[in-house]
Amino acid sequence: MALHWLEKLVAKVLRDHNRALTFEEVAELTGRDLGSVAKAALWLSSKGLITVEEHEKKIIGLGVEGAVYVDQGLPERQLVTLLERVGGVMALTEAEEKLGAEKFNIAINWAKRRGWISIEKSGGRVVVRLLERPAGDFPEERVLKLLSGGERELDEIPAELREACLSLATRPNVLDMKVKRIHVMKPTQKLLELDSELLEAVEITRLTRELLASGGWRKVKLSRFDVFAPSPPAFAAKRHPLQELIKLVREVFAEMGFEEIRGPLVELAFWNFDALFQPQDHPAREMHDTFYLAEPEMGDLPEHLVDAVKVVHETGGDTGSTGWGYRWREEEARRLLLRTHTTATTIRYLAEHRDPPVKVFSVDRIYRNERVDWKHLAEFHQIEGIVMGENVSFRGLLGLIKEFYAKLGLKNVRFRPSYFPYTEPSAEAVAYLEDKKTWLELIGMGVFRPEVTRPLGVKQRVLAWGGGLERLALALYDLDDIRTFYINDLNWIRSIPGMILKRRTGRV
Ligand code: PHE
Repeated sequence: MALHWLEKLVAKVLRDHNRALTFEEVAELTGRDLGSVAKAALWLSSKGLITVEEHEKKIIGLGVEGAVYVDQGLPERQLVTLLERVGGVMALTEAEEKLGAEKFNIAINWAKRRGWISIEKSGGRVVVRLLERPAGDFPEERVLKLLSGGERELDEIPAELREACLSLATRPNVLDMKVKRIHVMKPTQKLLELDSELLEAVEITRLTRELLASGGWRKVKLSRFDVFAPSPPAFAAKRHPLQELIKLVREVFAEMGFEEIRGPLVELAFWNFDALFQPQDHPAREMHDTFYLAEPEMGDLPEHLVDAVKVVHETGGDTGSTGWGYRWREEEARRLLLRTHTTATTIRYLAEHRDPPVKVFSVDRIYRNERVDWKHLAEFHQIEGIVMGENVSFRGLLGLIKEFYAKLGLKNVRFRPSYFPYTEPSAEAVAYLEDKKTWLELIGMGVFRPEVTRPLGVKQRVLAWGGGLERLALALYDLDDIRTFYINDLNWIRSIPGMILKRRTGRV
């Protein structure tokens, strides 16, 4: 067992005294500050060489009123003195006037309880009469005197004054009671039996210029570092766990040869819905619980695409589709909204990059008018991607998605048929979570329909997919409540080790 010099110092003192010592006593005996003693105590106790106990000490001192009484005497003493001076009897009203109403009440109360005075009727007036003069200092006065010399531990108050002390304590602000915690350390048997060598050997913890220059370092014993010694936690700056995942997702996409794209949060309904062949009267637009902008309400359409999109919605144009068979309105497409999915961003990109190869992704914010609960947020993130090329296929898409999630540690991914207005065929990917014994919905996916690609002038097949980031984050961080990511609980954020995602996903 290697001991730090500070541990040796403290351990030696304890062994020499072979009894319980307070931290203060040890600080005194070793000439070290309390902080160092506490540190050494923590290390020594973790090695089983000492035990540390916490005791409570009741400390008693003078309160504000008590300090005044030390100067002027207790009210009942003042009353007695007053009465003595006038021969033992005084009109009650006069005594009240002389002492002041407040002090008078306290004085009468206590003097009467002790049997020093009586209140009588005499010649048509009420008087206070001194019956007995307290001999010398009475116990309460002795307590005050004792405490005027500084605060004391309750146990130090002599037994015969204990009662007076407790009685004074019932009077407002006369005494001040405090509880002080003291820490006591005791040597364990293990320390008492420890090889003295271990405590005596002088070790050098720091190499100095002199030691190096003189060659003295060859002769001294250098102390070892104990890398397992407990230490206060250090909270270094770090990324929020969700940002950590976003970074990881970017890395994975980059490894797979994707480039990142971004698009506006405030989007035209045209890109969010129309370009994706979602009919204007379709509940999908409400189903998505869209946040529409009040101001400005409308944006400008990409004019060169308007006609083609209109035709495809109304009749299907030359796509081989019959379209939706309704009258498409430009006004509806011009409405501004907060994008409800990042597919708005990929389709926007596609309209400007019509020639293969296209291999891009986005991890970004989206908005839906959801009631916030453990499973839902109104503002969250989606992972999205598209691939366009000569030879891409639906099967290729399945493989790509499998590979992507495998890189995130989800090895058991399956696909089920699904429906989206803009893809055919459509599927959804789910992953089995071993810990939770449940299936997690990862993404929606498919091949963009001709009704989507043709109006943009895209000739090749486009694979597309998109899905939530937060639910994936819940699974990877093993959490249950999606709100955890957004309530900024510093303790929680600090509690997440920096490397945990990489470890969980098997990337380190
Ligand atoms: N946009 C869909 C969603 O928000 C996911 C999706 C993207 C589906 C691309 C198919 C193709 O759930």
